[in-house]
Amino acid sequence: MKEDFLKLALGLIETSEDHERYRGEECINLIASEGLKSPAVKEMLSLSQDLESRYAEGENDLEGHVKTRHYQGQKYMTQIENYATDLMKDLFGCNWTDVRLVSGTHANLATFKGISLATKNNRMVVSPLSAGAHITHDYSGLAGRVLGLETINHAYDIDELNIDAEKSATIINSTRPGIVTFGGSLFQFPHPIKELAKVAKETGAYVVYDAAHVLGLIAGGEFQDPFGEGVDFISASTHKTFPGPQGGVILANSGDERMNKAIKKVQHAIFPLTTSNTHLGRLPALGLAALELKLYGKDLAKQTVKNAQTAGKCLFESGVKVLGEKNGFTKSHQIAVDVRDHGGGRKIASNLEKANVILNKNLLPYDNQHNRKDPSGLRIGFQDVTRRGFKKGDIEYLCSLILDVVKGKRKPAEVRKDVIKLRQNFKEIRYGFHSVNEAKDHLRKYV
Ligand SMILES: Cc1ncc(COP(=O)(O)O)c(C=O)c1O
Repeated sequence: MKEDFLKLALGLIETSEDHERYRGEECINLIASEGLKSPAVKEMLSLSQDLESRYAEGENDLEGHVKTRHYQGQKYMTQIENYATDLMKDLFGCNWTDVRLVSGTHANLATFKGISLATKNNRMVVSPLSAGAHITHDYSGLAGRVLGLETINHAYDIDELNIDAEKSATIINSTRPGIVTFGGSLFQFPHPIKELAKVAKETGAYVVYDAAHVLGLIAGGEFQDPFGEGVDFISASTHKTFPGPQGGVILANSGDERMNKAIKKVQHAIFPLTTSNTHLGRLPALGLAALELKLYGKDLAKQTVKNAQTAGKCLFESGVKVLGEKNGFTKSHQIAVDVRDHGGGRKIASNLEKANVILNKNLLPYDNQHNRKDPSGLRIGFQDVTRRGFKKGDIEYLCSLILDVVKGKRKPAEVRKDVIKLRQNFKEIRYGFHSVNEAKDHLRKYV
């Protein structure tokens, strides 16, 4: 065997170990789209290694349960999928879900495809990209380029950082889409679903809520109540504020003819259209994360939002432009900050990276949509540090370190020492179980 090949393999193993130490132990992680699993959820993943090798192709029923499977050897796998399904249904108060999606992108793919098959209408109203929509919603991404949907933008109110309900109602009425989508990646304020769901349904559209970012907050009763406000489908990732393994989920309520028709088409879009293996090894960990949110999700969600608001206030009062000031900066886990006066999003995100503070540059609603390489803003998420136990004082101290870098008061390398020290004070992960056995002991007290 050539030495070069062996070097590659060794490099891969050692670099992976380096990564685990760097991002897992030495950085403060503020990427708004990344979650933090508890030790129990991580352990559950590592205990599901056989499952991780298996296939479970087939159809599900209108309760989301396994109906038919095409391979043998499924007796426990079927139960596992049904347990994960029922835990998610209970957590979100709905009667149908599909947990076979391997990502939020996959969940959007199957939801949009299924609904457009049901309605035979390929128009979708969504937020513009610069106002927080995800690339999967856009004509330039999955919706347009893969699914061939014609996308029409909601009217957006930059001042409110939100969809303009009145103007969007007119757009929906005049364009008569098959899908009206809410939710997004830059997502500080609840979208006006109450105001628009009825309008959308009256035109024959289905209402989709992309909760990729805020699923964990919704489970904890924060942000908004999509089903209560009139949403037909929730599509989401399971690894952002929902602190599970990387994956996707779709949730809805079956029962009437309209919803059954669309759910059947969405199921068809999942299998056979877009899955073969469904990454089954993540399902026990997904269910365990759902249990953790059932028990601790309310406190976790409340503290996450509080921490984001504390950071918004702290940065704003120190002279940095944080968006949404008049509405308290945010009602979610994230804030958006305009750092154009300090060198722009690219430069500041890169300087903060040198200080081991990891976040991302982001387009702001008033930016040129095409200037993705150097937008004005930063997006900062607080779900990771919250799970590590950060409270008001810790957030304020973290903001002071961020401000040192943003304002160029200290060199990033100098700030990094304080960041690593801060990180070392928060080794424990809260709002969850330390081990699978701890979770079992807890459950056995009751069953
Ligand atoms: C609103 C939204 N939808 C969908 C996705 C895609 O999710 P995933 O990364 O799980 O494919 C993202 C990713 O960040 C997102 O922000």
